[in-house]
Amino acid sequence: MQKVIAEDSFRDLFQFLIRLSSDSSSLIDLANEIELNKPPFYINETQQKLISVTAEDLGIDKASCFYPKFITYIEVFENRNLSIGIFAMSKGSAFPIHDHPHMIGITYLIFGEISLINRDIISINSSGIVTTRVLKEEVAVGPQIFYLTANSGNLHEIHAHEDSLILDIFLPSYSEDERPCTYYKEIRPNLLIRYNPNLFFRNMQYLGKTFN
Ligand SMILES: [Fe+2]
Repeated sequence: MQKVIAEDSFRDLFQFLIRLSSDSSSLIDLANEIELNKPPFYINETQQKLISVTAEDLGIDKASCFYPKFITYIEVFENRNLSIGIFAMSKGSAFPIHDHPHMIGITYLIFGEISLINRDIISINSSGIVTTRVLKEEVAVGPQIFYLTANSGNLHEIHAHEDSLILDIFLPSYSEDERPCTYYKEIRPNLLIRYNPNLFFRNMQYLGKTFN
């Protein structure tokens, strides 16, 4: 009986995200809620559905998902409008500063402890040096939900202080042609240049509950 309830709650979240991702006016409303502190209708809906999803629903086995120094990626779903993925960040692993062009990001830290820094781009000069300002810098213990939009906190970096499990949702998804991911490093406070980091990534298959 419990299994059926869990599957229904994840299916409910998935169907909500599918509807949201294909409705441009709802996406604008969600972005406005995040950026302008408008009444949090879509934020409340998202939070209510996300918090019912557990690591067990997602098929997470801590012993196999967390590998020292590595970030394990498990793709849950991806189409042009929506991507849902799981990142199991082992203690000490990190995502360097990177962007999410023209996207809304919903990051659900299910468990663990991370530091999270979000930045806004102020300008880019002719040499490609990016001037930023830090919008938010915090240490977070799960469960917690974070948001970014195209205009607010779009660049972020994440450092795992403990083994940390993240369910990442992007609307729309990355695209090599239209919305590529760019990594940056800080050369002086708030001044960034592009670079190609040597990331310790591994992939695993999704073994969680069915949802579609
Ligand atoms: Fe990110």
